[in-house]
Amino acid sequence: MAQNIEAGRPQRNGLPRHIAMIMDGNGRWARKRGLPRTAGHAAGAETFRRIATYCKDIGIEYLTVYAFSTENWSRSKEEVGAIMGLLVKYLREAVESMEKDGIRLRVFGDVQGLSEEQRRLITETDEISRRVTGMQVNVCINYGGRDEIVRAAGRWAAENPGKTPTEEEFSRYLYSAGVPDPDLIIRSGGEKRLSNFLLWQAAYAELYFTDTLWPDMTGRDVENAIEFYRGRERRYGGVK
Ligand code: IPE
Ligand code: IPE
Ligand code: MG
Repeated sequence: MAQNIEAGRPQRNGLPRHIAMIMDGNGRWARKRGLPRTAGHAAGAETFRRIATYCKDIGIEYLTVYAFSTENWSRSKEEVGAIMGLLVKYLREAVESMEKDGIRLRVFGDVQGLSEEQRRLITETDEISRRVTGMQVNVCINYGGRDEIVRAAGRWAAENPGKTPTEEEFSRYLYSAGVPDPDLIIRSGGEKRLSNFLLWQAAYAELYFTDTLWPDMTGRDVENAIEFYRGRERRYGGVK
């Protein structure tokens, strides 16, 4: 009977509320073209703008992107400088356009390690975000999953001496406080690892890896990832 066939079909997930992305492959994209790695980061920054607009247009509520890890400081001074310059440029643009575009912005990471200008811009984007509604973009800068957990533990201990937190209480001390866990994590660039990204929050995320290098990513790639996500059965340790 038609009804029974329907009942036997796997349930499909809806649109993910929260997508997180490891924007990897900028350097290889540049090298393939005989360009310096920094050119790959400039192209990657444009791709980020395009992908964020795509996610907003299809109704994603939260987008978290990995822009610079606590380990990325080990790269050359020139490369680090170029990435930091692009981040300043993005933050400046955000101050101008996020209200009009309906985008709230939050930075996840240790901002003490950033420049004074970056910190000032982040204070401004935080202020604007308080009065804007729309998709929330979390940009991870000087971010490390382990660093986030250690910091949260330190703050918890200072404020609640001798007490053990519940998972719910502890999560309020993370950079991601108040943000639902990512449903889907996309990594471009072909590597199949998390590289210290959202270690706590990724507990039950669906993971999607693509060989596409970040600067080449399009809305179509995100659509493919969402299609993959829709077909997954999320059991959270239970039995369906
Ligand atoms: C990701 O691209 C951007 C950052 C890590 C800042 P990469 O720079 O890691 O590019 P590949 O992996 O070397 O190609
Ligand atoms: C992860 O990419 C960090 C970002 C995308 C910002 P990496 O290129 O730094 O990671 P590994 O070195 O391949 O693990
Ligand atoms: Mg890389």
